[in-house]
Amino acid sequence: VQERWAISGVDLHLDLRGPRVRAGLEAALRDAIASGRLQPGTRLPSSRGLAADLGIARNTVADAYGQLAAEGWLAALQGSGTRVAGRTVEPVPPTASQEESAIRFRYDLRAGSPDLAAFPRSSWLAASRRALRGAPYRSLDYTDPRGLPELREALAAYLARTRGVHVSSDRVLVCTGFTQGFGLLCDVLRARGARTIALEQYLQPGIVDIATARGLRITTLPVDAHGAAIDRLGPADAVLLTAAHQFPLGVPLAAGRRAQVVEWARRRGALIIEDDYDGEFRYDRHPLGALQALAPELVVYAGTASKTLAPGVRLAWLVVPEPIVGELVQAKIRADRNSSAFDQLTLAELIRSDAYDRQVRRARLAYRRRRDRLALTLQRRAPHVRIRGIAAGLHALLELPAGTDEGEIISRAARRGLALEGLGDYAASCDIRGETPALVVGYAKPPEHAFTAAVGRLVAALTGD
Ligand SMILES: Cc1ncc(COP(=O)(O)O)c(C=O)c1O
Repeated sequence: VQERWAISGVDLHLDLRGPRVRAGLEAALRDAIASGRLQPGTRLPSSRGLAADLGIARNTVADAYGQLAAEGWLAALQGSGTRVAGRTVEPVPPTASQEESAIRFRYDLRAGSPDLAAFPRSSWLAASRRALRGAPYRSLDYTDPRGLPELREALAAYLARTRGVHVSSDRVLVCTGFTQGFGLLCDVLRARGARTIALEQYLQPGIVDIATARGLRITTLPVDAHGAAIDRLGPADAVLLTAAHQFPLGVPLAAGRRAQVVEWARRRGALIIEDDYDGEFRYDRHPLGALQALAPELVVYAGTASKTLAPGVRLAWLVVPEPIVGELVQAKIRADRNSSAFDQLTLAELIRSDAYDRQVRRARLAYRRRRDRLALTLQRRAPHVRIRGIAAGLHALLELPAGTDEGEIISRAARRGLALEGLGDYAASCDIRGETPALVVGYAKPPEHAFTAAVGRLVAALTGD
């Protein structure tokens, strides 16, 4: 009988103090409820179960429950045991500013996320069920810090097939987003004595902080129509490049510069980190292959599920040169031992079953249509704006006439309920803010039904209508 209670009961932590057991129990329950640790509606263990857990008489617990019910702390409900009584205090209504911000940003064209409403929920659930059903016990243990072999093998095949990456599964490291992967790489670089990393002049916010927090110095690389200016790399020990589609300017790194950066890295013994965050999304031509294929011994290739599926998946992958695998594994162990087995198994199954490819193809078609609608609408209704960087990716750069104040357009958009960001928000350093007034428009972000209205508000903000 004891065993059945132990299995069917609920756990409750109580600090019993003082010589009198019943008074101590009542005081402990009152404290826990008054401090909010036990929320209204929380089910308490049965008197039998709690008595067994605390090693006291069942009647003592029943009496204490009775007393607290009489005082209004607990409610004994027929058929559903004893619960913490509901408070008479009304929930705090949202403040005016909380309500305002929800209304202000009914639409969102900030870059960074795909259409979250298009996340393939049923394929993910089906893949998760299949994967968990078939997974051996060992996958649920502490596993290889590089990631589960199932996922590393699926990724190796996928990346070789779709991005031309030179890869074997033993050089794949699964991480919690590119954000973690980049931090781990900075750790390894520092431990190897690196001092300086070169970053593109405009980039994903947060990257500068990750590198400087690890003790690396930053140099910035200008970006022109051919991508990052490799001839300005100088004496850095590493460089981070968004070679397929510069984030956020949208230009690809030209073939000549790809060869040039490899030559630079070879000469200096430096490391290239290729952030291939949206490499799957190329619209007008055949996708540019990964830069990594030119020199797998010098380039770390990085990919992420944040654009193909959703940022909330928190899975990304690095393909690393053989000599740094061991050091990266040590950094991953120090960070979090290994990434979630459940998510890894699901993603592996999604890739193996081709559901991942189908999702990418569906999304590519939908985003291409949106991009065309955006370009056409701007051409017709805001011809003073030049749209750039649209051969690929999930965002466009809207160049504004010289002298335009980005902030003014962003405020106008906010007044119309649209969240927008300017190019200045992506500057690696303050001195280049405002040099080229432009907006970074994440056209993939709104759900399909809100896209037309979001673009309408964008046009109104641009034209002042
Ligand atoms: C340039 C760039 N790289 C990588 C990422 C993905 O980062 P994570 O994998 O941590 O979500 C993003 C996301 O916005 C990005 O803009």
